[in-house]
Amino acid sequence: KHFQACDSDIIVSTFPKCGTTWLKALTFSSLYRNQFAWDENPLLTFGPHQLVRFLEYDLYLYNPFPDLQNVCVYQPRLLSTHRPYASLPTSIKDSNSKIVFICRNPLHMFISLWSFLYKLGDESLEPLSLDEAFDKFYHGIYAYGPFFDHVLGYWKASQENPNKILFLKYEDLKEDINSHLKNLAMVLGVPFTDDEEKQGVVEEIAKICSFENLKEVEVNKKGVHISGIPHTGFFRKGKVGYWSNYLTPFMVERLEKLIQEKKDSSGLTFNLSSKTSKDITSA
Ligand code: A3P
Repeated sequence: KHFQACDSDIIVSTFPKCGTTWLKALTFSSLYRNQFAWDENPLLTFGPHQLVRFLEYDLYLYNPFPDLQNVCVYQPRLLSTHRPYASLPTSIKDSNSKIVFICRNPLHMFISLWSFLYKLGDESLEPLSLDEAFDKFYHGIYAYGPFFDHVLGYWKASQENPNKILFLKYEDLKEDINSHLKNLAMVLGVPFTDDEEKQGVVEEIAKICSFENLKEVEVNKKGVHISGIPHTGFFRKGKVGYWSNYLTPFMVERLEKLIQEKKDSSGLTFNLSSKTSKDITSA
């Protein structure tokens, strides 16, 4: 209601457990790479969620007028949200601000969410069984609304306005991070120069933002997000394919049918394979 987007704003928008932490790290490091010394990337000291703050359950949670000037140390402003496209502040939609969105194969996303909630659940409550959680997911009952409505909202908007919304998929980034990082930087208006590419800047950013690196950073091992969630909760396996260890063939069949039905003729596809070609070659 109160947030006013500027034309230069970049909004990282995601459905929970689809790669928010990773996309925040990648966007932050690419966008501001010339604003800090090479070995002083703030990601070595702060968690991605501390550097790219959530509008709804961080900045505006208790304060309708947060001091965004001080919150966004670097320029242009980089902020984030889990809100569906339909309920974004109109100033984001109407301004020239850009949105980078990431989604994930719903089978992965569901297992990631279930594991996250299971681990962080209130000890006074019975943990949600996989069957119960699946049933809720299948019927679209969880925070930020049904997965398919959320993802399709951004997908359709990105088709209509590709210069404003970059639509990414977790599995594609896992498959080829360097080319996606180059494209991300281009969309953010800070393309890598030939010199930077020769110096290996793209690979260096990919490495700093990798799951293996970030999960070992002190603040991500010990820190706690403003919401009370320990930073470790944002780093689990960081891989493609773990759903196959949890979901029964019946659950997979139901979800696959639901995916077909929901994505309809939208042109959106999901890589449902349980492995990337990298997993296959390194297996
Ligand atoms: P898994 O639960 O499958 O391991 P979000 O950041 O939206 O909460 O998503 C969390 C998922 O992204 C978790 O997936 C987490 O392990 C993974 N993740 C976190 N940081 C990552 C990174 N730097 N690279 C790849 N995956 C990452």
